[in-house]
Parts: sequence; structure tokens; C-alpha cells
Amino acid sequence: MSFRYAVIGYGFIGRRHVQTLKDFEESDCVAVCDINPKRLEEIKEIYPDMEVYDNADELFAKAEIDGVIIAANNNQHKELVIKAARAGKHIICEKPAAMCVSELDEMIAETEKAGVTFTVHQQRRFDKDFRCVKECYDKRLVGDIYTIQSSLYGYNGNMHDWHIYKEEGGGMLYDWGVHLIDQILYMVDSRLVSVYADVRNVINQEVDDYFKIILRFENMVTAEIELGTYFLSDRPEWFERHWYVGGNKGSMYADKFNPEGKIVRTTRLLENVAEDQDKSAKSYGPTRSFGVPEPGLIVTEEIPKTEYEQADYFKNYFKALKGEEEFLVKIPEVRRVLAVMEACRKSAETMRSVDFE
Ligand SMILES: NC(=O)c1ccc[n+]([C@@H]2O[C@H](COP(=O)([O-])OP(=O)(O)OC[C@H]3O[C@@H](n4cnc5c(N)ncnc54)[C@H](O)[C@@H]3O)[C@@H](O)[C@H]2O)c1
Repeated sequence: MSFRYAVIGYGFIGRRHVQTLKDFEESDCVAVCDINPKRLEEIKEIYPDMEVYDNADELFAKAEIDGVIIAANNNQHKELVIKAARAGKHIICEKPAAMCVSELDEMIAETEKAGVTFTVHQQRRFDKDFRCVKECYDKRLVGDIYTIQSSLYGYNGNMHDWHIYKEEGGGMLYDWGVHLIDQILYMVDSRLVSVYADVRNVINQEVDDYFKIILRFENMVTAEIELGTYFLSDRPEWFERHWYVGGNKGSMYADKFNPEGKIVRTTRLLENVAEDQDKSAKSYGPTRSFGVPEPGLIVTEEIPKTEYEQADYFKNYFKALKGEEEFLVKIPEVRRVLAVMEACRKSAETMRSVDFE
């Protein structure tokens, strides 16, 4: 049996959703809804049989569908999810599911009342770079981990379309922060004790385009997330994605979404250094601790290779819909990420850390 879907919001990600729903044998996309008539003309050119609607009320009144993917601007999610719930449809909402926790709570109440399934497209849980770091974390490949750094920098100094408007749910915390925080919370299974954040509008008037977030967990892991869209550089790449994981049995670095990196260890442990002061004194650097490593001191291993891809989100989704698995992205997790984002804004405003759980 194939589930019949509509995509609401036929923009950058909506186009991908139509294709995905057509590619999976469990689903079809039979209708598209967008308030912009040009977008509806565009889909008609590709799929002449596609039903098109310029408003969600008409879509829900007329289209014979089992579910919807909501891929409109962030400030539209609440109203569209509530309409879909009242129409009794399965719902995948784009991230961020809502602009704040209280909005999400209203959406949860409506979806629970209607008894419909509700999940959020946090497909970056399947990104290869993240999965590589998660494997390092889960298998303790560098021992007891004390720090995880996740960073993303854009070089073109710009943000696009409605992302520059506060009212529409613009800004990088909503756009990318929601993914980067979700990845950390999905990986680090521990109480989050405190949140510290610097969130700035560096060149944008209304919305944030830079943030640094420090999350301190009860299990002694500290995660640092940094993003900037105005991190200018003349390097050949147009963005940089980096991870660094520090543990007491080594370190791991991984760069790029298709990660390149190494697990790095020393052949000689700290206790041996004290017995061999002559040797350590021979390294020259800013200090001996930051000196040139002895030959053979640093050894490397390959980082874990992972076969995940973003389409795995939908493999899980359809299995969950058929009752064969649980939805990977659960609404209480989505709510926790939104609560962290609120704590980030509060911390940025007060310049103090915020107690969390
Ligand atoms: N998960 C991801 O990796 C990912 C990637 C990109 C975007 N997104 C999310 O998808 C959503 C859309 O982002 P985008 O970049 O595709 O934006 P976009 O501007 O390219 O497309 C949004 C579309 O929604 C339409 N729209 C707005 N309000 C509507 C309404 N009430 N009813 C019907 N259509 C409406 C607009 O006309 C536009 O065509 C956002 O929530 C964004 O955060 C997620």
C-alpha cells in the first residue's frame, strides 16, 4: 500500500520532498500547496497531473491524502500543523517545528487530540560527519570524552530570502542551530546541566548570523557549537564544517560533511614523560608542552566510515508508519532542542549561563 501525501511549501526543501515521496515505493506525492502561484506553475510543468492548491484550507477540504509534509517558512508551521491535525493527516513538519516551546505545546495538544502521527524532519541525524563522531562517542574510541566541538562557517557573508526576517522565523539559530543542537543532544545521553551562548547579529539587522553555544552535561562532556555566516576567508571551499573530539585516550578530528580526518594518539603516556625530562626538554616550541613531537610519538588511525545517508530518515519514517519501528525523531526530543534554543537566547541576552535540567 502506498501512502498519499501533499507537500505544503514548494521551495528549496519542498522540491526535494516531492521527489523523495515519489522515489519511495511506500509513498506518492499527489498534491502540492503553495501561496506563490509561480511555484505551482513550476510543479505543473514537471508533473502535469499533480493537484495544486494555493491555500491549505482548500487542500485539506479537497485532496484525498493520508499525510502532509510541511515545508513552508518557519512562522507558518504552527498553523499548518494544527490544520493538518484537525484534518486527521499524518504529519512531518520541517525543522524548526515551531518558533518556541509554547507554540510546539499547542501543536502537540492538537496532534494528540486528533490521534495523528507527528514527527519532524531532523534528517541531519543521518549526516555522515555526525555519524562518524557518534560512533567515536558510542564506542569510546578516544576514551573518556571531555570535549566535543562542532562548527560550521560560511564564507560568502550572506543569508538568503526570508531567513533575514525575524517575523518569518529567520536567523541561523532557527535554521542551523536546530540541527547542530539536535545532533549533540541525540548523541550525548546525559542530563544537560547548563547552557551558555553568545548569539549575535553581526551584519544582519533583525536576525542572528553568529552563535557560540556551550552545553555542559552531567556526564562531564562539554559540547561547543559555533556557527558564523560572516566568517570570511579566501580559501577554496565556500564553507567549513569541522568536528573535534577530545578524550583521555586520544583525539579525533573530522572535516567536511563527507568527513576527512583522523583519530590521533600518542605512543607514550603522560607518566613516562616525567621520567624522561631530557627527552621532553629537547622539543622546541612556545613551551615544552607545545613543542615539536618526538618522531614516532603521534600515531593515527582512520576515522569510522559510515554508510548513512539522509534518505535513511524516510526509511525509518515509513517503517514507523507501518508500526515496524519507532519514529527516530520523537516530539519530546524536538521540544528539548527548542528549550535549549530558548536558553541560548536568554544566555546571550544576560551574558550568563542558564541552568537547564
Ligand atoms: N531539514 C533541512 O535540512 C531543511 C533544509 C532547508 C529548509 N528547511 C526548512 O524547510 C522550510 C522551508 O524552507 P525553504 O528553504 O524550502 O524555504 P523556501 O522559501 O525556499 O520555500 C518555502 C515555500 O513555502 C511557501 N509558503 C509560505 N507560507 C506558506 C503557506 N502558508 N502555505 C503554503 N505555502 C507557503 C513559500 O511561498 C515558498 O514557496 C523551513 O522551515 C526550513 O527551515 C529544512
